Amino acid sequence: GKVRAPTHIISTISDDRGEEPCYAGVPMSSILEQGFGVGDIISLLWFKRSLPRYCTKFIEICIMLCADHGPCVSGAHNTIVTARAGKDLVSSLVSGLLTIGPRFGGAIDDAARYFKDAYDRGLTPYEFVESMKKKGIRVPGIGHRDKESDNRDKRVELLQEFARTNFPSVKYMEYAVQVETYTLTKANNLVMNVDGAIGSLFLDLLAGSGMFTKPEIDEIVEIGYLNGLFVLARSIGLIGHTFDQKRLKQPLYRHPWEDVLYTK
Ligand code: ACO
Ligand code: LMR
Repeated sequence: GKVRAPTHIISTISDDRGEEPCYAGVPMSSILEQGFGVGDIISLLWFKRSLPRYCTKFIEICIMLCADHGPCVSGAHNTIVTARAGKDLVSSLVSGLLTIGPRFGGAIDDAARYFKDAYDRGLTPYEFVESMKKKGIRVPGIGHRDKESDNRDKRVELLQEFARTNFPSVKYMEYAVQVETYTLTKANNLVMNVDGAIGSLFLDLLAGSGMFTKPEIDEIVEIGYLNGLFVLARSIGLIGHTFDQKRLKQPLYRHPWEDVLYTK
C-alpha cells in the first residue's frame, strides 16, 4: 500500500488545497451564502465548530465593546508613542499589544480559571476572595483604575444584559456578581471589570450551549483561549490609533521632565 512520509506539521483548522479554502471544513462560498459574520469565523477557527447564533453574537459583542478604550490606557499609549517614533503599522500595533497581560486586558483566562474552580468547588464568595488574599493573588476580573461602584463599567452591564436575555444559564456570571458584591465591601473600586465579565460569561457560554463536552471546556480554560478575544478586539483600536497619529503628523513623543520624580 501507500506509505505516507511523516509530516513536520499537523493542522486541523483550515485547508487551502482545494478549489476554495475551507475553515473547519466549511468552504468559503458556503460561509458567504450562510451570511456568516466574524463571530462564526472565530467559532470555526478557534473552536472548530459552528456555534448557535446567540453565541456568535456574544463573541461579536465582546469584540465590539473591547475594540478601544481611549488613548490613555496602556495599550493605546504604547501604540501612540511608537507611531510617533516614526515606526510602521505592525510595530505600532504590536507595541500596544505587548501591554496586554495580567493587569490590562489579559485577565480573562485567569478570571475564567479562578471563577470556575471556586464555583465548581462550591466556595462562597467570602471563602474564595479570602483564600486568594491569603495566597497574595489579586482576583482576576475584579478592580479598575477608573471605575467604582457608583460609576460602573457600562460594557460589563451590556454584556450581562445580553447574556441574561439570551443565555440558557448565567450561573458563573451570577457567581462573579456575588464575588463583586463582596469585594465592594472592601473597596469602592473593586468592581467587576470587562475581563471578569467576559471570563465568567464565556464559562456560561461553554457550559450552557451544549456544544462542548466537559473535557473540551477544561481544555479551553486550561490552554487559555479567552484573552484572544481582547487581543483581537483591541487590535482594531490600536490600528486606529496608529492611523490617527500618522494623519495628525504627530512629532516624536518625549515625556515631560516635570512629570517624573527624579530621586535617589
Ligand atoms: N483583588 C483583590 N484586591 C485588589 C484587586 C483585586 N483584583 N485589585 C486591587 N485590589 C486591592 C489590593 O489591596 C491593592 O493593594 P495591593 O497593591 O497591596 O495588592 C489595592 O486594591 C490597590 O490596588 P491598586 O494597584 O491601587 O489598584 P489599581 O486601581 O491600580 O489596579 C487593576 C487596577 C490593575 C485592574 C487591579 O484591580 C487588578 O490587578 N485587578 C486584577 C487584574 C484584572 O482584572 N485586570 C483587568 C482590568 S480590565 C482591563 O484591563 C480591560
Ligand atoms: C480598557 O478596556 O482598556 C480598560 O478597561 C482599561 C482602562 O484602564 O481603562
